[in-house]
Amino acid sequence: MRLLVLGPTGVVGAEVVREALHDARFTTVMAISRRPLAVTHPRLETLLHADFRDFTDLRSRFSGVDAAICALGMAWPQADSEAQYRAVTNDYVMALARTLNAANPEVRFCFVSGHGASATSRQTWARIKAETEDALRDTFGSRLVVFRPGYIYPVHGRETGYWGDTVMRPFMPFRRLLGRYITDSVTVARALLYAALGAAVASPAGNPQIEAASATYAVPRTHEVSSA
Ligand SMILES: NC(=O)c1ccc[n+]([C@@H]2O[C@H](COP(=O)([O-])OP(=O)(O)OC[C@H]3O[C@@H](n4cnc5c(N)ncnc54)[C@H](OP(=O)(O)O)[C@@H]3O)[C@@H](O)[C@H]2O)c1
Repeated sequence: MRLLVLGPTGVVGAEVVREALHDARFTTVMAISRRPLAVTHPRLETLLHADFRDFTDLRSRFSGVDAAICALGMAWPQADSEAQYRAVTNDYVMALARTLNAANPEVRFCFVSGHGASATSRQTWARIKAETEDALRDTFGSRLVVFRPGYIYPVHGRETGYWGDTVMRPFMPFRRLLGRYITDSVTVARALLYAALGAAVASPAGNPQIEAASATYAVPRTHEVSSA
């Protein structure tokens, strides 16, 4: 199947790409990014794209896409303003979603939202995520799976340091006890790929559902490729 990944240079997106390239069921991994990826691979197609408000020029490339994973986004404290957070979290995601769905009305869409997303939250980021979830549901209906992970530990690190990792470090030894709030990038990536393959995953999926989907996702020997 052909998989599209939005946000492929981030903690979650890069993990999705890494895992998908180990799984030959993903015949093509199409990464859409504003900058080159650190990895190259015969099954990886990188599309460099400048204007994330408009993906219509890529529509013909999207017609064969079976599933998309959207790991585009930013942490609320990293945003300069509400407008910037909204642009990246909502406007860019919906621009891609609408063009993708027009190109293939059967496509599955997996969206990384966040723990606490709610239209009635007192936190702005949580309301914007919920708004995006709703707009995606209107677009994809039952073909949408929403993931609401808690803090995601970056198993393979991250390119630029994030103070959130420092804050969370003391809690990592207690991760099993805090499983509702803490997960890691490999677990989230595998759960996303499981849903992308068409398996049933509860939506919205919080950490317990993400953990379960990730544990069930397995790369059968016949599908595993040795290096990515
Ligand atoms: N990390 C966590 O603990 C956590 C927890 C819950 C939910 N989430 C959600 O999960 C998603 C992924 O998180 P992450 O930690 O993987 O984020 P990340 O490491 O910051 O990666 C974000 C991705 O989005 C892209 N991006 C950001 N701003 C962009 C812009 N203006 N134009 C084009 N691309 C842009 C980045 O591209 P560049 O590399 O080019 O900047 C990167 O590929 C986010 O929506 C986040 O809200 C994260």
